[in-house]
Amino acid sequence: MKKSTKRILYSVGLTIFLMSFLGMIYYGYKTFYIEKDTVTSKEYAHHFVLIAEEIDNEYWRLVERGALRAAEEHDIYLEYLGPPKADNDQLLRLLDRMISAKVDGIITQGVEGQQFVDLVFKGVERGIPIITVDTDVKSSVRKAYVGTDNYYAGQLAGRTIIENTTGEQYVGIVMGRFDAINQQERIEGFKDAIKTADRIEIVGRKESNITQIGAAQATYSLLKEFPKINALVGTSALDGIGMVEGLQEIAPNKDVYITAFDVLPETLMLIQKGKIDATVAQYPEEMGYGAIEVMIELQAHDVLNTEVFTRTKIIDKGDVDGLRPGDPK
Ligand code: BGC
Repeated sequence: MKKSTKRILYSVGLTIFLMSFLGMIYYGYKTFYIEKDTVTSKEYAHHFVLIAEEIDNEYWRLVERGALRAAEEHDIYLEYLGPPKADNDQLLRLLDRMISAKVDGIITQGVEGQQFVDLVFKGVERGIPIITVDTDVKSSVRKAYVGTDNYYAGQLAGRTIIENTTGEQYVGIVMGRFDAINQQERIEGFKDAIKTADRIEIVGRKESNITQIGAAQATYSLLKEFPKINALVGTSALDGIGMVEGLQEIAPNKDVYITAFDVLPETLMLIQKGKIDATVAQYPEEMGYGAIEVMIELQAHDVLNTEVFTRTKIIDKGDVDGLRPGDPK
């Protein structure tokens, strides 16, 4: 073979080799390279946990929404947890687990009983700030409470009945859960408010288990047992909606003055339709947002204000129809 032909063949061979080699490197890199962002997890300032009474409850999702908004603004990793159905034992187990996981802060609904008090003590002793949201347990060493003044909220419900009814009122109460401290405080406030009006009397009380169906059943049995009931008060977020349903079943034409709690969209719609007369508005998103802010402060030092009350007010048809200034939501 001629020298020049050999040189050409070598050059072609070398070019082909170089091209395949470079191709291999390029495609290999493309195939196996993983964007840096996806492997290194984002660095957060703190890891907080929010424990709800019931994870998928519409009301608690609003608390979560407010908390998430504050968490995003302050670079906080927020974990939202809760039992699938309201259950104190399960909530306490979650709380215990989060203390063992050594998170930077725990925001939880307060639960009745010594076990909660002991767990809060254990957490705080280990340096984990714990604050209560929505329901307080004053006897615990929780660092702060963020939520409604539940006694005052109950008083508001009582005053509404006094102001908007005439004549004898036989009240049936549908409570979320008998053993929930915030429900008990609301009832206390309600009772104290109606003390001034002899014509208003509580005749019966049943539990809804914080579900709509539970509230419907409770209403049905209350009216069956006490047919003279002409006023109903629901003290947790889905009670009003369930009470309308239960009343429809047992006494659809009876004129009953209904007071609910919270401003979930369906409650507002029922107020607009004239099925619910009034509701005590709470601001769960503000609770969530405020709780994160307090928890951030607690990472640096103890807070002075250990009771942060969020807004509470009565909403009726005038507010929902926009006849009065203010925000029903
Ligand atoms: C209460 C919460 C409860 C919720 C149930 C609210 O009114 O503040 O404690 O979990 O109702 O739907």
